[in-house]
Amino acid sequence: MMQQELERIRQEALERLKEAQVPEAVEKVRVEVLGKRGTLTDILKGMKDVAAEERPKVGQMVNDARTAIEEAIKVAQAKMEEKILTERLAREQIDVTLPGKTLPLGHLHPNTVALKELEDIFIGMGYEVMEGPEIEKDYYNFEALNIPADHPAKDEQDTFYINGDILLRTQTSSTQIHAMEAGRMPIRMIAPGRVYRSDAVDATHSPTFHQVEGLVVDEGITFADLKGTLEEFSKALFGEETRVRFRPHHFPFTEPSAEMDVSCFKCGGKGCGFCKGEGWIEILGCGMVHPHVLEMSGIDPKKYTGFAFGVGLERIALLKYGIDDMRLLYENDTRFLEQF
Ligand code: DAH
Repeated sequence: MMQQELERIRQEALERLKEAQVPEAVEKVRVEVLGKRGTLTDILKGMKDVAAEERPKVGQMVNDARTAIEEAIKVAQAKMEEKILTERLAREQIDVTLPGKTLPLGHLHPNTVALKELEDIFIGMGYEVMEGPEIEKDYYNFEALNIPADHPAKDEQDTFYINGDILLRTQTSSTQIHAMEAGRMPIRMIAPGRVYRSDAVDATHSPTFHQVEGLVVDEGITFADLKGTLEEFSKALFGEETRVRFRPHHFPFTEPSAEMDVSCFKCGGKGCGFCKGEGWIEILGCGMVHPHVLEMSGIDPKKYTGFAFGVGLERIALLKYGIDDMRLLYENDTRFLEQF
């Protein structure tokens, strides 16, 4: 009787374990068969009713059944764990062939790159980098630069006036005056910064752009120093084979004055689309500081002479990177900016 019952429990348990699909099903068999109130445990409890001589044999059978079931539970659990792991691995599969996501990285604006390069060149020649105010007095922007109230240059430069004598500087040349007023000799400085002119926006104009001013004042400075310095600068910026030429020009604050061209760095001077067949590209204005300008800032023109120059920073950036529209520099479209 008991043996049959035992066999039935054992068969049923093994059957259920074999079919179990989830860990809960295995656990359920364990509790229902081997647990405190489990069917096999019940049988053990009934052992006291078994005849004494039968007991060892029945006991052996119960133990065998128990071992077999425990064994089957282990097997079922292992199977279950493997199944769970396989499912998890399938679920968490990573497709290593998918294209990656690039993290957007910030970087320097082409104007800034060009300015850094320019600054490095002049710092290497012993210049200091100065800054002047963007909001200026008429005196610093015009008068002290030899541009009196009735001077036509003042009309040429369409100025943003704030009120009366206060304006947004139209040129970084105003910083020359601050440097000279400070009175520490010799002066060897460049002054980069933003300038403002009441211009309509187009491919080559903007109401705000950047210039870099340069000023050297010392005893015995000549036009040869100007030429040598600006030639060195041009070679450093555009390449060792670059040639320069100076064309006579007029600026109120320098005498004599010139405009400087560099040989086209695309065609080497033969003439191409980039230099519009000229072979030369205009880069900057320059000249010997006008004695009257020195004098107005308290520097004795009999003792000191100097040269000055002014470069448009955007122009340098456009030329260096072959950009044909200045507006691109101000739109902050990252698709454009990313290329530099
Ligand atoms: N300030 C001039 C301009 O805006 C550029 C310039 C020309 C600056 C000659 C200078 C210079 O210092 O010597 O057009």
